[in-house]
Amino acid sequence: MRWVVTGGLGFIGSNFIRIALRERPDLEIVNLDAMTYAGNPANLRDIEPARRYRFVHGDIADPAAVREALGDGADAIVNFAAETHVDRSILDPEAFLKTDILGTHVLLEAVREQKIARFLQVSTDEVYGHVAEGESKEDDNLRPRSPYSASKAGGDLQVLAYHTTFGTPVIITRGSNTYGPYQYPEKLIPLFITNLIDDQTVPVYGDGMQIRDWLHVEDHAHGIMHVLEQGELGEIYNIGGGNGRTNLEITEKLMHGCGRDIKTHVRHVADREGHDRRYAIDTAKARALGWKPRVAFESGLPATIQWYRENEAWWRPLKSGEFGEYYKRQYAHR
Ligand code: TYD
Repeated sequence: MRWVVTGGLGFIGSNFIRIALRERPDLEIVNLDAMTYAGNPANLRDIEPARRYRFVHGDIADPAAVREALGDGADAIVNFAAETHVDRSILDPEAFLKTDILGTHVLLEAVREQKIARFLQVSTDEVYGHVAEGESKEDDNLRPRSPYSASKAGGDLQVLAYHTTFGTPVIITRGSNTYGPYQYPEKLIPLFITNLIDDQTVPVYGDGMQIRDWLHVEDHAHGIMHVLEQGELGEIYNIGGGNGRTNLEITEKLMHGCGRDIKTHVRHVADREGHDRRYAIDTAKARALGWKPRVAFESGLPATIQWYRENEAWWRPLKSGEFGEYYKRQYAHR
């Protein structure tokens, strides 16, 4: 069995590769990754290139790189490669269109040409847009509201159109907000943890009453593997943790876990433009396949804080250089 995983040096992709190699002894993985700012070889520092793991440096939007990764074929492609940070999509939308839409298109063409049996597109609950109440179901209309989520929705629509038009064997997963080890420290949870470890303030956007549904990265990776192996072609599966929390609740828990005081360490800053207030997804369809989340948020969050405490050597280099420039651009004027 050979899977080509794209974006395997990113947060969810690297956790997926580690788990898949551990739990499927006959599996080989080829990891195609462009090594953008978020693609970090240290995310797989414990996986030695060996008979079962090969790395190819390249962009999914480059057909030659995709051909090289596919070599003489694969049983499946799992597409994690994406630009994913909403704030960066507001600053610089173009890279999102290139990777999340055009890159997906290049992969779909390769699936057709090489007759790959399965293509799994890793997507996001953000394509449904803000949901005031209830939970988004897989066949709900897409109402993306940021350049990021609009790009992911564009990718999803290409995937579904290839299934309808060419019979391309595709599956889509839509995950909720993911947290855990190896997450690049621009996202809420790792940004706040690393700031608090360093005795810095954390920037809460607007009133902090926005709601996200938090999913541990191991549950997300298992969900994707489950759907890849047991899902039905042409179908979409929501994967969520069932842990809807406001950003202020998360902030309070992180303050507590890092031993800081909300009065001195929170900075209320101008809200994100077009900020979605709430995401919530119905996960009955993935659960009917036999998957369910196993990591309780009450233990997963403290364990994540502990991981960042113990792995300063992993995140400190990430918070200098490019990140410093981004942080200034994103937060200095807020
Ligand atoms: P984020 O981790 O960027 O994920 P997403 O925007 O894809 O949901 O943000 C999670 C929530 O936290 C979101 O409502 C925005 C908010 N947030 C802040 O309040 N301050 C911050 O500095 C960041 C990065 C996010």
